[in-house]
Amino acid sequence: QAIDLFGIPSDAGASCRGSGMGPEALRVAGLVETLATLGHVVTDRGDITGSDRARTPWRLSDERNAEVLDIARQSSAEALASLDAGRLPAFVGGDHSLSMGTISGVARHCASVGKPLFVLWVDAHGDFNTPATSETGNIHGMPLALLCGEPDFGPDYEGEWRGLVDPRHVTIFGARSIDRPERQLLERRGVDVIDMRRIDEMGVVALMREVLARVEAVGGHLHVSLDVDAIDPAIAPGAGTPVAGGLTFREAHLVMEMIHDSGAMGSLDVVELNPYLDHAGMSARLLVDLTASLFGRQIMPRQVVRISET
Ligand code: ARG
Ligand code: MN
Ligand code: MN
Ligand code: MN
Repeated sequence: QAIDLFGIPSDAGASCRGSGMGPEALRVAGLVETLATLGHVVTDRGDITGSDRARTPWRLSDERNAEVLDIARQSSAEALASLDAGRLPAFVGGDHSLSMGTISGVARHCASVGKPLFVLWVDAHGDFNTPATSETGNIHGMPLALLCGEPDFGPDYEGEWRGLVDPRHVTIFGARSIDRPERQLLERRGVDVIDMRRIDEMGVVALMREVLARVEAVGGHLHVSLDVDAIDPAIAPGAGTPVAGGLTFREAHLVMEMIHDSGAMGSLDVVELNPYLDHAGMSARLLVDLTASLFGRQIMPRQVVRISET
């Protein structure tokens, strides 16, 4: 598999700084080498940055908005170009607002080749707020709502990003912190929210089989957006918005392994790693290992059984 790796070192969409250092930490933790060891041809295409990088103190929200949009435009173009060239774009962040750009490019590619797009949003949060419902005003809590077509984002956010994803093709996996109005929106739009209770009751395997079978049934393109805070903060402390009770080490790896076996993943975001809050690189290393599982690392070789045959 030819993989294009892009860093998006920005925390303009978050309240707490530090995720801008995420791409470098993942590189230091050996992301490129690890994927290459698995037999992939990985090209590190460097970083996508906003127009105004030199900024202290932390800026006003208008400027943060502008940076988020600036980055989104570039990442959308990169995602589209990479997929059009038959490669798999992987974006490492950076706060989760980056996904509005990456997924918009993915959606434009899927539309042009007539492939249905599915999004698997692995996250403690729904990221389905809008400027009207958000309690914090942080854009990283909103990208999914924008992509799914919610109004109230204002003229800057029209066109390119809004409404490119069908909310009924979105699964949020690992949720345990959803704001009240956000929950209402998620229900109204028919987003499949697999919260931690469902995972406790049903287990990762049954739930993921269902998600992947839906994609496979129509030959869809699966975009995976992995937020580090989906994983339990005890093993992934490098997160700006940690929530107790997350995915265990085993669960997280199993999710990744099952995605790999499905062969459905066509694009990826790995977001919200905050090296400033991490403990001696443990979250960075965990994310590299999870990404390795996503790209085919196995303990022992295993015959791949298609979901539809099980
Ligand atoms: N729901 C909260 C908000 O809207 C938290 C969002 C956290 N999102 C994230 N990408 N870490 O601010
Ligand atoms: Mn998120
Ligand atoms: Mn999150
Ligand atoms: Mn700590």
